[in-house]
Amino acid sequence: MITLLTPTRGYSSVAACTICARNSERHYPVGQTTSNFVEVVDVGLSYGRKSRVKALDALTIDVARGEFVAIVGPSGCGKSSLMKLVTGLLPPTTGTIRVDGHEVLGPLKMVGMAFQNPTLLPWRKLLQNVLLPFEVTDEHRYKIRLKRSGYEQMARSLLGSVGLAEFESSYPWQLSGGMQQRASLCRALVHQPALLMLDEPFGALDAFTREELWDILQGLWLSQGFTTILVTHDLREAVYLADRIFVLSGRPGRVVATHKVDLTRPRTPDTAYDLQFQELVRGLREEIRVESARIKHH
Ligand SMILES: Nc1ncnc2c1ncn2[C@@H]1O[C@H](COP(=O)(O)OP(=O)(O)OP(=O)(O)O)[C@@H](O)[C@H]1O
Ligand SMILES: [Mg+2]
Repeated sequence: MITLLTPTRGYSSVAACTICARNSERHYPVGQTTSNFVEVVDVGLSYGRKSRVKALDALTIDVARGEFVAIVGPSGCGKSSLMKLVTGLLPPTTGTIRVDGHEVLGPLKMVGMAFQNPTLLPWRKLLQNVLLPFEVTDEHRYKIRLKRSGYEQMARSLLGSVGLAEFESSYPWQLSGGMQQRASLCRALVHQPALLMLDEPFGALDAFTREELWDILQGLWLSQGFTTILVTHDLREAVYLADRIFVLSGRPGRVVATHKVDLTRPRTPDTAYDLQFQELVRGLREEIRVESARIKHH
């Protein structure tokens, strides 16, 4: 059972969005976006000095504030590299990246991240793992002594919302892979980042657990309204979760197609039987098949 979090940033007076019941101040339904929160403009990325590997080329992507975007493409086309560029872990070779109107010139503070491997610290209990962002971000590090109980309350509320309330004192290795990944989502969100970056977060999980986590993520996103960029190989996952999907070409990655997903929210397991859902998945599969074949014949 999924409990939706109540909005935590104090916009109770804001009218609810008619499309998805989220607060209209933070959420701009597709087609009604007012500004781009993330702008990747004509970006190229090459690795190495002598034998240069061109990972991305002339890549342009925009993401509206509060939007949920998925990025799909053949293996090795530069998806993880793009995530590193947007979060400021890597500088682009050419082009510009802006987040919230500012050029990205170093690691961003306002971002939460989760990857295929949950990367929880094995010597820390779950609650302590989820609290980690407060200890490592400058904004919170100096306040943690004073605000510890408030921070713990936020962490507990998140753990409760993903069904892990009774496991806060467990170590990660005492939990299943799906539970660890749920905790990893909590850790990514506990400091209320404006931007959530997910790189194949559910790739290592069985199909049933993965679909449970789609609903958990959708619930958190609907209630909190953070902007999300999800990299995934699972095309059903992309269609289930995203407002828009960018398809990248084979390396060097550039955008070859963009799809709007106009399925109503919240999406439910029945959504996957919708004809529009299935046609979109089939179309994406074909686009990626063509791109993968193009790389092999190159
Ligand atoms: N640190 C690095 N040094 C050199 N080359 C790199 C580095 N990281 C990635 N690459 C190369 O850049 C290209 C894109 O890699 P990236 O990991 O971004 O692809 P990806 O789309 O995430 O792949 P996958 O779907 O398999 O995860 C690959 O050819 C890879 O070998
Ligand atoms: Mg990758």
